[in-house]
Amino acid sequence: MIPGHVAIIMDGNGRWAEKKSLPRACGHKQGVRNMKEIVNAASGLGIKILTLYAFSTENWKRPQNEIEGLFSLIRQFLKEELGELNGSEIKLRILGDLSKFPKDITADIESACEITSQNTKFELNIALNYGARQELIRAFEAMSKQGIKEPTEETVSSFLYTSGQPDPDLLIRTSGELRISNFLLWQIAYSEIYVTDKLWPDFTKEDLKIAVAAFQKRKRRFGGL
Ligand code: IPE
Ligand code: IPE
Ligand code: MG
Repeated sequence: MIPGHVAIIMDGNGRWAEKKSLPRACGHKQGVRNMKEIVNAASGLGIKILTLYAFSTENWKRPQNEIEGLFSLIRQFLKEELGELNGSEIKLRILGDLSKFPKDITADIESACEITSQNTKFELNIALNYGARQELIRAFEAMSKQGIKEPTEETVSSFLYTSGQPDPDLLIRTSGELRISNFLLWQIAYSEIYVTDKLWPDFTKEDLKIAVAAFQKRKRRFGGL
């Protein structure tokens, strides 16, 4: 079975650049190029939802020039890719708190989400200024404001950024780190985890196929037998 929802922690752009004695920014640029490859590959494989971790709530700790460089790449991505995303019937959703981003980026994101909102072939979630703890606090606050005192698991899920979407079946992390880094803590409760040493810019559609094949060999028990 092809996993319906795949989430990826796209890690290793900096190391990719350092290995080639290039500035870290080159790694991020190559990382964005690779996002496009993997979105197409995922759609081609029959995956329905792809969630990509692009910027965490902790990534603000990075040097200002690296953050500015990432903003430029986001701007470029939205400008250059919107037509193709829409043409490929991809619905874009952003997971995260956009209020901390420059206004022009927020506006471009809102319009890209609006333009692609009726697409049904494939869903692309990009996690930007995303932190799972922040997402949960936001959900608890919203539930409290609405007077919900006895939430069920479904209620909590419906207040998350991924509302309405099934949980990831497969979580991939590139670059070998064995940690979650505050990604989708609630949603990955029963996701299969696949970690590869490949750095994100080197992660190809063949690698995605290998990860899916590994997933297909797993026996998911969900606590049962
Ligand atoms: C992942 O690559 C992209 C972001 C976090 C924005 P890194 O920039 O974390 O790359 P490494 O981990 O330093 O190699
Ligand atoms: C996780 O990568 C966040 C993204 C890929 C956007 P990090 O490079 O920020 O994670 P840590 O710091 O190694 O845990
Ligand atoms: Mg990293």
